[in-house]
Parts: sequence; structure tokens; C-alpha cells
Amino acid sequence: MNALTGKRVVLGVCGSIASFKAAQLCSSLVQLGAEVDVILTESAREFVTPLTFQALTRRTVYTDIHEAMPDLSSAHVELGMRADVVVICPATATTLSRLAHGFADDLLACTVLATRAPVVIAPAMNVNMWNHPATQANIATLTARRVCQVGPVAGYLAEGITGMGRLSPLEDVIGAVRQALGRNGALAGRCVVVTAGGTHEPLDPVRFVGNRSSGKMGYALAEAARDAGADVTLVSGPVSLPQPWGVTFVQVGTASQMADATLAASEGAAALIMAAAVADYRPVSVADQKMKRSGDALRIELTPNPDILASVTSRFGDALVKVGFAAETGEVTAEATRKLHAKGAHLICANDVTEAGSGFGTDTNRVTMFARGGDPTGPEVEHLPTLPKDEVARLIVARTAALVTSLRR
Ligand code: CTP
Repeated sequence: MNALTGKRVVLGVCGSIASFKAAQLCSSLVQLGAEVDVILTESAREFVTPLTFQALTRRTVYTDIHEAMPDLSSAHVELGMRADVVVICPATATTLSRLAHGFADDLLACTVLATRAPVVIAPAMNVNMWNHPATQANIATLTARRVCQVGPVAGYLAEGITGMGRLSPLEDVIGAVRQALGRNGALAGRCVVVTAGGTHEPLDPVRFVGNRSSGKMGYALAEAARDAGADVTLVSGPVSLPQPWGVTFVQVGTASQMADATLAASEGAAALIMAAAVADYRPVSVADQKMKRSGDALRIELTPNPDILASVTSRFGDALVKVGFAAETGEVTAEATRKLHAKGAHLICANDVTEAGSGFGTDTNRVTMFARGGDPTGPEVEHLPTLPKDEVARLIVARTAALVTSLRR
């Protein structure tokens, strides 16, 4: 189960040199479990064929508004009416203009007029066409109607130049679709802070003390909170993952920087999810020049870092829901329970990193959630099976949302 499982997605494809990328998007949406109905505009059919999308979706592909559609009696409105989300990728200047002015002269335009579902547009076009006041006015009209715009981005354009107008990366388009689907979710209107990754504590300009955290769990949590409608701030240590679409991103290096950023973002937030593997110690002194090798032993003196979760508790008390993690190598229950109380958390998500499929850098995790005694939102100890990290994230976010609701009631 993920954010797209069973969702009815209408994918509108317009005619652009980027049209071929819609096939990859279509395939990804199908693989994520969505039921995808594709509409190709007349111009799109000059670039890609219905057969491509029919093969990818194993469903009828819609083109002409006047064509016989044996399985839909009034397809010009029905596709839009039954959709959970409509995504137009790539969206050309012509289609943006058609939508902004409310035309109903092709199947895609009719579908957008008839739908009550969120609409996501991923524009792609020449830089001058994009910058033209007419296009910008159309975009302003559409975004004022809560159409969700993703991109374009600056980069190489088919004309052989670099400029604004390139289709956004497809991960961002999928992120925007997920966000649009969840905009009235359990955390709609709430601010949620998520920390992720390890911290790097410098020794000199080229070396640091750090840990093996990949950031995958924290990034999945940030996306899951976004998909539940939250305004998410992701405070991230150095990791090699792309920034998730639709979250406010704060890059930090050290534990002290993470503490400052987390305390600032937690002001007024409904929840903090501390998935970061914060370094407990940092070198007492940081050399300004690269430390040189000598034949002697090297001793590094370390001093404790602040406990960020405990600091949030002492500053804000229970004004926000606090979710912590405990990556253990044994004594999981005892350690998780101790940390729950010591740090003032509402929930500790614990895992044994020595278990297969549960360690750093894996794509799965087996988590047990430990809650305070008498928690009305679920059992005090809840064992989750080994699951992909995005599914674990969805379950933790669901419990967090329930805690937010019970705290604010
Ligand atoms: N944490 C924190 N600040 C720190 C260290 C940890 O906020 N300086 C948070 C982590 O993000 C996590 C929780 O506290 O949510 C538990 O982290 P963990 O490293 O397991 O706990 P420690 O208190 O460091 O205990 P130990 O390393 O001794 O197990």
C-alpha cells in the first residue's frame, strides 16, 4: 500500500518534445498501483502513440472527444468526474491557455472542466514561450484556482540552448501528484518538522566524525507527512538523496546546526519526527588546516552534543507531538522505553539494526512503536512487520496524525 495504490489518475499528455517522458511517468504511476486513464491531445499524437500508453496501462487510451468510446457513455465528462487526480504532463502553452480560459474544445479540456479532483500541471516549453506574459498570466490564473504547478526547471532545451522551460524531474511530478491527492488529509493545515540523516562533526576541513545513516527513513517520513496534507519542514544532515517535492528543505551539517534549525522550525508546529541519527559527540577542537599524518598515535577528545529531542521537550513541553527513533543493537524494549520517558517523546519507533532488512541504508525496516501508557490512539507497544520504508513511514505518520488530533482536541 502506498499513496497511489488504487487511485484513479487521469494522465493528460500534450504535444511537446517532452511527450516521450509521459510514457515513463505513466509506467511509474502504474507500478505504484494507480489506475491510469491516458488522454492524448491531437498534437501529442504527433509525438507519441496511443499504443504505447495502452500497452503500459492495459487500458483504453482516450484521444478524440467525438470518437466512439464503447466503455464510457459520456467520456467527455466521465473521466474527470471519476478521477482522484488529473495530471497534465507535459503541459504545453496551448493547453495552459485552453484551461485558463475554460475552453471545452478537446477531451482533456472537458475533463479538467468536469473534474472536482485536484489538477497537477507540469509545463514544458521553449524559454521565450514560458516567459511570455500570456503564458505567465495563464499560469497565474490556474494557480489562483489551486491548480498545482510543478516546474518547469532550468536546463537543456531541445532547441540546443539552456534555459527555463524543461520538464521537471518525474520524481517531482509524482511527488506533486501524491501531495495533491493528500491535500485534505489527516494533517491538512498542520506544520510538521522531520529530521533526517546523520550529522557530520568536523575534525578539520576534510574529515569528520559521522555515522552510517542514509536518510531514507527520514525522507520517506517527510514525504508521508506531506502526503497527509502537512506543511513539512525537512531538516536534513548530509545525505545523497534528492530533495522531496513540496517540502521546505533546511540543509544542516552538524548536530548544533540541526538543534538550532529544529528548535526554530518546531515553534508553532503540530509535530516533530526526529528520524535523524544525531552524533552524540563532537571533537572538542576543529583544526583550520588539514591534519597531517605522523607516526604517533592520534587522540581525539570529544564533547557531548545537545540532545535535540530533549531540548524541544524542555522548550515546548507537550505543545507538539514528539516522535523519536531508537536504532538499537539489542535491548530494544528497555532502551525504547527509557528514551520515551527521558526525552519526553509521545512515541518511540525502535528497530534492531543488526536484523536483516532493518539496518542503515536498507529499503525496508521492522519497527516497533512504543507509546506512553494510556495513549488513546493505539496500543502501548505496536509491532509492525518488515515493510518498505515508505509504508513504515505512512503508518508512523498515521499514528502521529492521531496523536496530533488527540492532543489538540
Ligand atoms: N536524538 C536527539 N539528539 C541527540 C541524539 C539523539 O534528538 N543528540 C534523538 C534521535 O533523533 C532519536 C532519539 O533521540 O529520535 C534517540 O536517538 P539515539 O541515538 O537512539 O539515542 P541516544 O540518546 O543518543 O542514546 P544512545 O546513543 O546512548 O543509545
